[in-house]
Amino acid sequence: MSLIEQAAKRLQMLRRAGVEFPEEGAQPPDQHRRAIPAAAEPEKAPASSTPAETPRRTTRRSGADDPVTRPQPVSRQVQIDLGGLAAKHIITPDLPKSRISEEFRLIKRPLIANAMGRGAAPLARGNLIMVTSALPREGKSYTAVNLAISIAAELDKTVLLVDADVARPSILNILGLPPAAGLLDLLPGGTLDLPEVLLRTNIEKLTLLPSGMPRQGAAELLASDAMGQLVDEMADRYPDRIIIFDSPPLLLTSEARELATHMGQVILVVQAESTSQAEVSQALATIKACPVKMVLLNQVRAQTEEGYGSKYGYGYAHA
Ligand SMILES: Nc1ncnc2c1ncn2[C@@H]1O[C@H](COP(=O)(O)OP(=O)(O)OP(=O)(O)O)[C@@H](O)[C@H]1O
Ligand SMILES: [Mg+2]
Repeated sequence: MSLIEQAAKRLQMLRRAGVEFPEEGAQPPDQHRRAIPAAAEPEKAPASSTPAETPRRTTRRSGADDPVTRPQPVSRQVQIDLGGLAAKHIITPDLPKSRISEEFRLIKRPLIANAMGRGAAPLARGNLIMVTSALPREGKSYTAVNLAISIAAELDKTVLLVDADVARPSILNILGLPPAAGLLDLLPGGTLDLPEVLLRTNIEKLTLLPSGMPRQGAAELLASDAMGQLVDEMADRYPDRIIIFDSPPLLLTSEARELATHMGQVILVVQAESTSQAEVSQALATIKACPVKMVLLNQVRAQTEEGYGSKYGYGYAHA
């Protein structure tokens, strides 16, 4: 098969997977030859980049790997129903003064400071932030989504929200979006590359990486060397972007602990009045090596004049 035939075949495969491409002639020829199109993601090599520092490409390639003949994908744009978010207690950029926005304003400050190297001490990979919990249903995904939208609302912060809970993905569902290719399609057995599965959103600085098409052994893949390399690739490609990983709980399986070893910061969401102190201590012990751990108390009952009300709230503390 000629190079052109191989490229055409791959283009067809990617179109079937929902990846969009620029129309013929939409970009000048030199941009067509870039590994990742500027229109897709505002990603830049660091100013000091040398050939040796060029981001590694860890995902597999077919024969149509020639950067000249290989069609360059543009990440897909999706439309989040912003009105629907407020009804689910999710931050919307339209309501910057809501209670939930104010809560996350406090929560994100120390995380952003660490990510930007303005924390108490220099922090490697401070821009990689994992949201986890000891047990299921403590509010990890809810926290990850709110944190991502809250940070994306900052003028100069671009956020990539990764659904790394491949066994129980929920990010797209929370945002009211249909299933899409993602993380699992980048790991061994998948056929896509990072820019092909990123979803740009109508929240300008928020990009999503869904968990991808479910398949057998997905949870094990999360703890694989390939996943570690993929996280390294993301860290290399997006040093100026905050990358938030929604993850599985720590105490039921080992995948989240493995993922945590690649992170600069870990948020442990604790469901107030439900998770025991022993469970919290046990969970913290599994991520001992992570440089920054933040404990976030979720669903704290707010004290009202009539006694305890049913409002949700957050408290936070550095571990
Ligand atoms: N502070 C909160 N305010 C309102 N609803 C919340 C809050 N925290 C969690 N919830 C709700 O509780 C439920 C569980 O939350 P979520 O899905 O975020 O938990 P999880 O830890 O990601 O669960 P899983 O382990 O299944 O992935 C969801 O319906 C979510 O909307
Ligand atoms: Mg979840």
